[in-house]
Amino acid sequence: MMSNQDLDSLKKAAALTAVEFVCDGMVVGLGTGSTAKHMVMALGEKVRAGMRLRGVPTSMETALLARQQGITLLDADNVWVIDVAIDGADQVDPHFNLIKGGGGALLKEKIVAASAKQFIVLVDHTKRVPVLGGAFPLPIEVIPFGWGSTAREIEALTKSPVVLRERNGAPFKTESGNMIVDVHLARIDSPRELEIALHLIPGVVETGLFVGRTDLLIVGTPNGVESYPATRT
Ligand code: A5P
Repeated sequence: MMSNQDLDSLKKAAALTAVEFVCDGMVVGLGTGSTAKHMVMALGEKVRAGMRLRGVPTSMETALLARQQGITLLDADNVWVIDVAIDGADQVDPHFNLIKGGGGALLKEKIVAASAKQFIVLVDHTKRVPVLGGAFPLPIEVIPFGWGSTAREIEALTKSPVVLRERNGAPFKTESGNMIVDVHLARIDSPRELEIALHLIPGVVETGLFVGRTDLLIVGTPNGVESYPATRT
């Protein structure tokens, strides 16, 4: 069993590999979470060494860190041309499909990943799973209006427990003012079909399933960093 500190050093190693794909003048989608944080800090070092970069942050937390690191950020209402987006994930399956949203930033993360010419995913080796689901629930961002009915529809579709995410005893609110329900699916055998079906439910804003979006998976392992090119589908 690895300590959190050991896992963090694997995340950092993956992040340092990822930033080597960033070139002068690029617009970079900046992910959210403990792995993405290492990437933002490594980009900050590059900026201080003279590299010209502009970033599109996927959360206020990342925006704050990026500014502290001296990275220029593009406004939310810019029409971005993102060269590469780099982000972490909660689970990765053998087809490079992901569950994201453990930190609640899935909506912005998916918009930024979808807008990027290349999407690089960073994980430590413990996040690789044979099939999505199981230990990690699937986050779904829902509109507050009628969220209970939306959750009931999700439950009926998935035949799995759906739990409203809370923080400090109150419903967790995303940066877009929505709620998150976590769906405890034993296994997700058909992520694409599930994503499509979930999007047909009124009130669902976005799901934490990232299907066919990964271009490159970078994995920090105790034996070194491994990279796996993927094909978008
Ligand atoms: C944020 O909402 C998430 O999608 C994160 O990208 C994901 O949870 C990975 O986070 P860590 O790198 O902290 O594990």
